[in-house]
This record gives sequence, structure tokens and C-alpha cells, in this order.
Amino acid sequence: MNTRNRLLMCAPEFFTVQYEINPWMNAQRKPDAVAASDQWQQLVANLAAVAEIVLCEQAPEAPDMVFTANAGFVFEGRVVVSRFRHPERQPEQPHFARWFAEAGLGLVGCPEDVRFEGAGDCLVDCGERRLWLGHGLRSDPRAGVALQAAFDVPVHTLTLADTRYYHLDTCFCPLADGYTLYYPGAFSAEPQMLIRTRIPAEKRIKVSRADARHFACNAVGLGEHVFMNRASKALRKTLESIGFEVHETPVSEFLRAGGAVKCLSLNLDDPMA
Ligand code: ARG
Repeated sequence: MNTRNRLLMCAPEFFTVQYEINPWMNAQRKPDAVAASDQWQQLVANLAAVAEIVLCEQAPEAPDMVFTANAGFVFEGRVVVSRFRHPERQPEQPHFARWFAEAGLGLVGCPEDVRFEGAGDCLVDCGERRLWLGHGLRSDPRAGVALQAAFDVPVHTLTLADTRYYHLDTCFCPLADGYTLYYPGAFSAEPQMLIRTRIPAEKRIKVSRADARHFACNAVGLGEHVFMNRASKALRKTLESIGFEVHETPVSEFLRAGGAVKCLSLNLDDPMA
């Protein structure tokens, strides 16, 4: 690994669950602020061993802003800033837009009526130059057309139907060398078929329902390192047998908002293969 990827993260200063926009959220079961802060600090420390952590500040009116994966989608030095489906998250947009502008990233436009939730729904393949876009629950499939045109890259679109797996990064995770972790149960027959035709069988790593519920697919892959909330013995063994190093970093307080390790970071560089 020669260059370290930069990961954008946001300390959970104002993180809480005050609205419910996915089935994991229950405003009566709020995360514990101290535990959330401790878990986040530990996650930063773990990721900092192999990546460079870049921070942005949380806006008080945006409790979900800690999920920087949804700030936008960065690819080859340019960014598409997110346009959230739910009004609850729309206050995050100007903050992230300003951050990207100040960071000097080139802006890529997306038509105004197209909802797009950034790297929560758009994932960079680490095996070949192509993107995966989840749509149906948050992002609009037309975002795929815009991404394809802007970056001149093939985009495979996968329809999401299970509200529990509302962003593609909750059930699908490209890893180094074209390996892909995914939870088949989150997809209907058609997207499952697309995954099978585009990713060779030996590169597909199926995650069990129990692992999926612990957000195992919401992982950050950096070269041979894979960071996730929790991995069963079986999943750990599978990943290790291929040569990956699994780092568990518990983020249970963030699961209360429907997010985990991957949601809490945004890769500003192209993932290392
Ligand atoms: N509460 C947030 C939402 O529902 C969680 C976002 C998680 N982010 C992600 N990339 N999956 O929008």
C-alpha cells in the first residue's frame, strides 16, 4: 500500500435519533452520547492505522451528519454532492457542499430533481473501473445516467427493495481485487442475477442474514484491511482464507440510526486495489 486513502469523518457532537427515516431508527431508543463518542474515537483510531482521517464539523441541526458516506460521491478527484430524499436530512446539503468546495474538489452536476445519497448508494468497484448504484429507496436511477456521463464509466444499477437495507452500502461492499461482500436477501431476483453475471463466483462473498443485521456489509475495505462492526466466526474465516485482515470495530450506538462503519466515513480517494 503506497498512498493512504483520505477518509472524511464527522465527530458525533450532535448525533442522536430524533426522527425515523429507516426501520432501524426509533426516536424512543436514543443512542448513548458518551458510548457513541467512545465508539467513534475508537473507529477513528483503528482506521487511522491505514488511512488518513480528515474531519468536518457537525451542524447542530443535522443529527445524521456523522454519516459522511452520504455527503456525496467522490471519484477520480471530483464530487457529486448529495441531494437527500428525506427533508430531515436535507439541512446537511449546504454544509457538505461548502466542505467539498473548500476542499477544492471539482463539482459534478446532477439534475435538480434527481435524489442521490452519495457513497451510501454509489460504490466504486475495486476490480475493474465501474460503479455500482443502489436505487429504489433513496437514490433515483437517473443518478446512474448522470454518473455514467460525467465520469465516462459503466454504472451497474441494483434495485433495492428491503427497507432495512435502504442504501446499497448496507448490503453490498466491493473489496480489493474485485472481491465483493453482499447479502443476497436484500435483493430481488433481477439484481441478484446482475450481481451473478458481473462478478465471478469465486469473487462473491455471501453474507448470512445474521451478519447482514450486524451491518457486516457496511464495511470499509482498504487494501487487505476490512473494518466492520462485527463479523461472525464463519465470515472472519472466509475473509481470512482469501487474505483479508478483519478488524472489528463496534459501532452499536450508530446502528440505532441505521448506520455503521462504512456510513461513518467517505473515501475522498479512489480505493486501493
Ligand atoms: N439515519 C441515516 C439515514 O437513514 C443513516 C444513514 C446511513 N448511511 C449509509 N451510508 N448507509 O439516512
